[in-house]
Amino acid sequence: MPLAFILLLLNLKFLLQATPTTATAADPKTLNITTIAANAQKESVIECWQLTAPFIASAAVGTSGAIFAQLGETGATSYGLIPAKFDGGMHNAPVVQWVAFLAGEAVVSLPNSTQTAIIHGGRYGLILAADTAKASTSGHITKYPSKKETVAIQIPTANNEIPSHSVLHGGACRQEES
Ligand SMILES: *[C@@H]1O[C@H](CO)[C@@H](O)[C@H](O)[C@H]1NC(C)=O
Ligand SMILES: *[C@@H]1O[C@H](CO)[C@@H](O)[C@H](O)[C@H]1NC(C)=O
Repeated sequence: MPLAFILLLLNLKFLLQATPTTATAADPKTLNITTIAANAQKESVIECWQLTAPFIASAAVGTSGAIFAQLGETGATSYGLIPAKFDGGMHNAPVVQWVAFLAGEAVVSLPNSTQTAIIHGGRYGLILAADTAKASTSGHITKYPSKKETVAIQIPTANNEIPSHSVLHGGACRQEES
């Protein structure tokens, strides 16, 4: 395994396990996340979700002074390299999972709607994909228009659970909400 990858996994493990301490009034923010969800008609929809779990100040060595939002217990994490100009076609989320785009670009669209979400790798690259075959009939379409590879880390939630949240609004979250 390449060293960078091992370091990444270690880092990720640390991030997911960072022990929360009491939140202070200075960190009131919650994490808002673009989500590919599904409605009662079993259609995929793009929504901006506000997670119930708040950002919590870390006291852990190395991150003291930073704030973390817990993503919950998670399952097998994978690292993916998606070719340049790749068309992922129409599909359902295989499981409920976080997808952290590190580089490149993903464009999510829906078969029967004009809603789209453009996700750039990097600072605003985390989304939740929850339109599993059980929840959505047709799923969504993902294209990767970048001239270089798109890099994504997929983090399934434990037991396919959808994190506790409220819907902020339809459509993708805006940068100023993240
Ligand atoms: C789009 O909507 C129509 C009408 O509701 C439906 O018959 C069709 O199956 C939908 N197509 C997809 C790909 O979901
Ligand atoms: C998430 O949205 C809420 C409500 O609009 C806002 O108060 C909060 O600051 C947002 N979180 C971030 C990290 O921007």
